[in-house]
Amino acid sequence: MAGKADYGRFDRFIHWLMAINIGLTLVFARGMSTLPDDERILEYGDHGMSVTTIAICLLIRIAWRVRTGFPAMPDAMGDMARLAAKAMHYGLYGVLLAQIGVGVFLASTTELEFVAKGYNINYTSFQLAPRELHDTLLSFHIGLYWTIVALLALHILAALKHHFVDRDLVLLRMLPFTAKLRARRAAR
Ligand code: HEM
Repeated sequence: MAGKADYGRFDRFIHWLMAINIGLTLVFARGMSTLPDDERILEYGDHGMSVTTIAICLLIRIAWRVRTGFPAMPDAMGDMARLAAKAMHYGLYGVLLAQIGVGVFLASTTELEFVAKGYNINYTSFQLAPRELHDTLLSFHIGLYWTIVALLALHILAALKHHFVDRDLVLLRMLPFTAKLRARRAAR
């Protein structure tokens, strides 16, 4: 549902808060499950904090997009490019939601308690899955991790193509403090 002329401050805030937390999670969570207990428990706290923030931002972002829509794609984009952009965005939302779902079930199966720092949510206490499912859920979680990495790489490449090749406003309109740059580029 396209609906507004531009992204507002709130769109940009939620987008970048989510992007920072996803970036930190992708970098720092890798290999967490093989750490010694004393290090793993600390990592669980940090992982819990960043993924809970991602989950909250994602739900707010989806509700906000449904309510206010999003800016139209540039007129110069062909039908295939529009379809690809749509598939990419829905794919990214879908995979992130799936990862959060699998993560919440996985947290029920850990030997050490998985407690989100800052929020103080003990996800292990939800007891949503038996401990025997731990390895299967962890394999899914790692598979989805690499799917997110691949989709994000495409997302970033597409944004750079819009900016440097197509020379449109798609990247700039999501960047804060770019009002002057956008006006200059729009006037060309
Ligand atoms: C964008 C969302 C998420 C990403 C990218 C992500 C990524 C990861 C990664 C890379 C690992 C380490 C796997 C390894 O050992 O190599 C991991 C482990 C884990 N994640 Fe997530 N995760 C996400 C969401 C969640 C959520 C929402 C929860 C639960 C609330 C969660 C719970 C866990 C648990 C419990 C482990 C450790 C399992 C173990 O020690 O055996 N994750 N995650």
